[in-house]
Amino acid sequence: MSVIEVRHPLVRHKLGLMRAAEISTKKFRELTAEVARLLAYEATADFPLETVRVECWSGPTDIEQIKGRKVTVVPILRAGIGMLDGVLDMVPNAKISVVGLARDHETLQPVHYFENFVGQLDERCALIIDPMLATAGSMIATVDLLKKRGCRDIRALVLVAAPEGVRALAAAHPDVRCWTAAIDSHLNEQGYIIPGLGDAGDKIFGTK
Ligand code: PRP
Ligand code: URA
Repeated sequence: MSVIEVRHPLVRHKLGLMRAAEISTKKFRELTAEVARLLAYEATADFPLETVRVECWSGPTDIEQIKGRKVTVVPILRAGIGMLDGVLDMVPNAKISVVGLARDHETLQPVHYFENFVGQLDERCALIIDPMLATAGSMIATVDLLKKRGCRDIRALVLVAAPEGVRALAAAHPDVRCWTAAIDSHLNEQGYIIPGLGDAGDKIFGTK
């Protein structure tokens, strides 16, 4: 299964709070960061460890540390920015690559308007962040851009996924794993996830 629904009670609880129609921008932002932290924790669970010897207060001691892992976090503008601080709390040494995509409201196709990738993508694990996986057009386009630059370990973190997006991502990129706090019911005619969160970008940035 390339899309993994995280069942942890903290994730379920926090995501539930985010669904309230009258939630404030401040609260929505805080919860976005909190859930992002927990998703990052899950998505990095298989990072390899190595043992190194350090001078501990009680003498030389073997400790475990993450083995030579280069990470780039890839927020999809705009809404992905809302998850960035939470993910960086968990992987503070990560470098940041940015992709700008806006979904055309009529066609639902992603329109590319910006990109700025860090180097050595062939050696990095990419953690793409975007609160919403709706049709998955934006996610698929971002994975395409990363693969074109040689990135092979690509993972995605989203708050809510639609079954349509789950199927589309699995079909386009079966090697990419995606962690989500919920797989919801369906997309409506305007391409919004039901029940979903509404427009995540607007809620994070306080627009509209
Ligand atoms: C939203 C969301 C995703 C995309 C998901 O962004 O943050 O990037 O739509 O839809 P898809 O799976 O059908 O591609 P939007 O394009 O509205 O831009 P914004 O982040 O600037 O609000
Ligand atoms: N983008 C959003 O912000 N929300 C949706 O439900 C779908 C796409």
